[in-house]
Amino acid sequence: MKKRILTGITTTGTPHIGNYLGAIKPAIKMASEFDESFYFLADYHAIIKNSNSNEIGDSVKNVALAWIASGLDAEKSYFYRQSDVPEILELSWVLNCVTAKGLMNRSHAYKAATALNSKDEDKGISMGLFSYPVLMAADILMFDATHVPVGADQNQHIEMTRDIAARFNHTYKKSFELPEAIIESEKDVVLGIDGRKMSKSYGNIIPLLSTEKVLKKSIAKIVTNSLEPGEPKDIEGCSVYSLYSHFASKEELSELADDYKNGISWGDAKNKLFTVVNNELTPIRNRYEEFSSDSKYINDLLHEGATKTRVLAREKINSIRELIGIKTIS
Ligand code: ADP
Ligand code: TRP
Repeated sequence: MKKRILTGITTTGTPHIGNYLGAIKPAIKMASEFDESFYFLADYHAIIKNSNSNEIGDSVKNVALAWIASGLDAEKSYFYRQSDVPEILELSWVLNCVTAKGLMNRSHAYKAATALNSKDEDKGISMGLFSYPVLMAADILMFDATHVPVGADQNQHIEMTRDIAARFNHTYKKSFELPEAIIESEKDVVLGIDGRKMSKSYGNIIPLLSTEKVLKKSIAKIVTNSLEPGEPKDIEGCSVYSLYSHFASKEELSELADDYKNGISWGDAKNKLFTVVNNELTPIRNRYEEFSSDSKYINDLLHEGATKTRVLAREKINSIRELIGIKTIS
């Protein structure tokens, strides 16, 4: 059996260094350990949360650029937009028909949304949100992905994908592989400028594709305590130190720990952080600048990706159609 890695990023908002360190960089690195790799822009997932078409359009472009600029090899992998592979939506419907509603009732995302309501618990909840895990299952099962790297918050969706696949296999015939999640560890969670997990929903991001000036400004905004220069500082729970740990070498990290003991000023600590982040992001920024005004390049790349990907998708959906009885009349 082929080992296939697959992951998607929802196209809402601006890609940030949490997405880069938690999803993009490890997925690109892991590709070499797998027979095939699939990276996609989850734009049909995006419209569940955002109905502003301009924002969705901008985000699709920026998330695509984030992958390209971070060094994705589009020749060696499958890189595509979810919406360019309509077979995924077709499979999503088929899977909806074998998915227990009760399974969806247990979804954390759905439960969190209903918990915010008082009288009518389903107020403001769309069927898109409710059946979000089914679309995600279709993304994964369409290509028989064996491994799916995701953030810990997505683990339940992978478990649901396994349930849905098993239910289909049981109802019809074994057609889908049960995927395994590769979960980023708690210590790898990237903190935002306010000390919480970096997330576009919290507005606490450091953007991946910004100018040096904006990067410096974002780092300057990281919230610290009010200890003065000369006063020893604690590395535990410090966002500056935590962010530094994702970019610095072991030696640099232990040097900064010593600096903390010796009372480095927050300004100097942030300058050190800026230097290591900027060193890693400079080649990414350069590639981003090279391609950001070249929409044709991005569109062509995605188009080629979709063409290649649809060969697999069509083959799979045809076998599924046959199995469920949607076939030529004999
Ligand atoms: P956001 O929380 O900003 O909405 P997404 O949910 O779109 O981000 O995340 C896409 C992927 O990026 C996730 O699967 C996760 O692996 C990764 N990711 C997002 N935020 C972080 C973070 N703060 N630390 C590590 N990884 C993250
Ligand atoms: N739901 C994921 C997120 O918000 C994005 C996503 C959509 C995904 N389909 C996927 C991730 C399939 C992995 C596999 O982060």
